[in-house]
Amino acid sequence: MSHTTSRDMFRSGIGAFAATLGSAIGLGNIWKFPFLTGMNGGSAFVFAYLLSVLLVGLPILVTEHVIGRRMRMNAVPAYAAAGRARIWSTIGYAGLIAAVLIMAFYTDIAGWVFAYVFKSLNAAASGRVLGPEDFQALAGGTLEPLAWQTMVLVLVVIIVGAGVSRGIERATKTLMPLLLVLLLVCDIRALTLPNSYAGVQFLFAPNPGRLSPAVLLSALGLAFFKLSLGMGTMTTYGSYLPDSTKILPNATRVALADTLVSLLAGLAIFPAVFSFGVEPNAGPGLLFITIPLIFSRLPLGWLFTAMFFILAAIATIGAMVSLIEVPTAFLAEKGGMSRFKAAVLSAAAMLVLGVFATLSMSPRYPGLKLFGLSMFDLFDFISSNILLPLGGIAIAVVGGWILSRDQYLGELGKNYLRQPGTHAALHAMVRWVAPVLITLILLNGLGVIRL
Ligand code: PFF
Repeated sequence: MSHTTSRDMFRSGIGAFAATLGSAIGLGNIWKFPFLTGMNGGSAFVFAYLLSVLLVGLPILVTEHVIGRRMRMNAVPAYAAAGRARIWSTIGYAGLIAAVLIMAFYTDIAGWVFAYVFKSLNAAASGRVLGPEDFQALAGGTLEPLAWQTMVLVLVVIIVGAGVSRGIERATKTLMPLLLVLLLVCDIRALTLPNSYAGVQFLFAPNPGRLSPAVLLSALGLAFFKLSLGMGTMTTYGSYLPDSTKILPNATRVALADTLVSLLAGLAIFPAVFSFGVEPNAGPGLLFITIPLIFSRLPLGWLFTAMFFILAAIATIGAMVSLIEVPTAFLAEKGGMSRFKAAVLSAAAMLVLGVFATLSMSPRYPGLKLFGLSMFDLFDFISSNILLPLGGIAIAVVGGWILSRDQYLGELGKNYLRQPGTHAALHAMVRWVAPVLITLILLNGLGVIRL
């Protein structure tokens, strides 16, 4: 029945939790959440993001797991089967496009992270601190960022082509807690700096005046990106969930843990930003400028900086593996080619678009713009703010309307004492709240309607 030949099932509850969380946690937490928060007015964005996770992200995550486990297939055939019409496999196909677009800019940033591991060690050897000029030299360059990006893609192809080894899984599982500990060290350092409270206020003091259609759409897009939703990744992972996994508690824990890591990253960055008088709206470079700055104030700061970027690099690998797996599995299964060949082809498509994304960040190539956005921002906008929410609407329609309520609730409550009230409320959210909210936020954010 399974359409997957190369990947087996998660064997334990902990394994299912770790794998799902491994796809969720990545640059989204330590890079994207802080920089979008900084650019979108702080607490207003955080508030909109938390609501998006609760009202849309969690119900869609649960639905992807329900459909994946019920169908036990990858996303393309799973949605055709669950929707009882071939047209619904479009969700899976759109997911392939989203995966390529996301990887085009994700590998650019991952390349910066890998570069920073070496840059921080080099800077330490010559006794200096990495500053904004180092980041500008890297991101504004041509060959250097492209070389790192290519290296990152080659690394991911090797891992995915060989099959996701247990080694990587085990390494990710042990190193993730280490990332958490380092993040807490950053938090303590940042929160004990003078004037750090201004950063806490920026993150949490209510500021409803800053809410706008664009802020709401960004927050919703981030919720999809963060939890790897709307493109079939979590459906595929759902197909590997054992029947004993309690889907709702598992998904709730993933959403909570993931959100906690984002908030901890925000608490490491913004108190320091305000304490050092740096602009909070620095955009994508925020992480690369602020973290070295914070650690430079600590004894052995160079060591912490290098460790932070090493762990961040490892976190990017887990997310990238799940991203390239989407087209790789599809090409291997549908096109009948080897996994390695499928991974190389996927990476080639990602690199072609990736070159445009990377060079568009450099002031040397001002022409790489479309609709006033750099290619980098455009790929990010189209995937997170359009394709993933559209995928989310379609998934909610299949899960909430086409799959019968009994089928949905039967899968959700499989093998454990039902919680009829909670499960029924969740089903109502999938049926009504999530699709209506996504539609309104999407149309409003794109300027099609004015609320
Ligand atoms: N969730 C990952 C992050 O926040 O870094 C990014 C991601 C991974 C998005 C896998 C989509 C996906 F399918």
